[in-house]
Amino acid sequence: MEVVIAKSSKEIGKQAADLVVAQVSQKPYSVLGLATGASPLFLYSQLIDRYRRNAVSFAHTTMFLVDEYVGLPRGHVQSYRAFIRRVFTDHIDVPSSAVHSPDANAADWNVACEEYEAAMEHAGGIDLQVLGIGRNGHIGFNEPGSSFASRTHLTALAEKTRCDNAQYFSEKSKVPTHALTQGIGTILAARHIVLMASGAKKSRAIALALEGPMTAMVPASALQLHPHVTVFVDDEAGGELQHFGCHKDVALKIDAFDNAG
Ligand code: PGA
Repeated sequence: MEVVIAKSSKEIGKQAADLVVAQVSQKPYSVLGLATGASPLFLYSQLIDRYRRNAVSFAHTTMFLVDEYVGLPRGHVQSYRAFIRRVFTDHIDVPSSAVHSPDANAADWNVACEEYEAAMEHAGGIDLQVLGIGRNGHIGFNEPGSSFASRTHLTALAEKTRCDNAQYFSEKSKVPTHALTQGIGTILAARHIVLMASGAKKSRAIALALEGPMTAMVPASALQLHPHVTVFVDDEAGGELQHFGCHKDVALKIDAFDNAG
């Protein structure tokens, strides 16, 4: 696991964009896993910017969203499908038919989840998965208690999650109670995972996920099992890290030594 402590969420977006651009340049037919929420917004605006400057093309990529609310009408402005179009995919050259999300409006959610897994497998599996983290340590909508082996499934949202997401709805009661989400096992199958977090409200979850014991009560701690994870945090989100936080101090000391020398 590589942990980068960046100056700001803008800087996190820039550095994460470097990784995505490198991935797509090296493999134009890359399969990208996309998170929604606030954490990846700077990443997506950076990628749009680089696309406009002809620094990258997404024409041959395939994209899969991590999760989708259940209970919103198709096309609802707060559906994650609508969200990702608004903040990212409508502004780049990926064909809309290549952007996939779990079909939360399907008649049978179990079938929809199985089809989503099959579609990811058919595409060759996720090359690079972008992730945020919830205050309760969730990844996707895998709330505390989720199995590390889970695949795409229907899940109930934790109350903490519904409170956090109430800002996007007129009132908390309007926040959906359920979602379809890639499972932790699905997420761990990605070849490279990029996790982004900023702000003090994420510091506990980041410390527990990266340095705490692996436990289903902190779903993001499952990432410790993965051989290739890059974590971008700002000073605040990284504020409770002990081991990885020390690395930053060492780096700073080396800088000081170089400057003095
Ligand atoms: P955020 O949410 O990026 O909006 O903070 C992340 C998450 O809940 O997974």
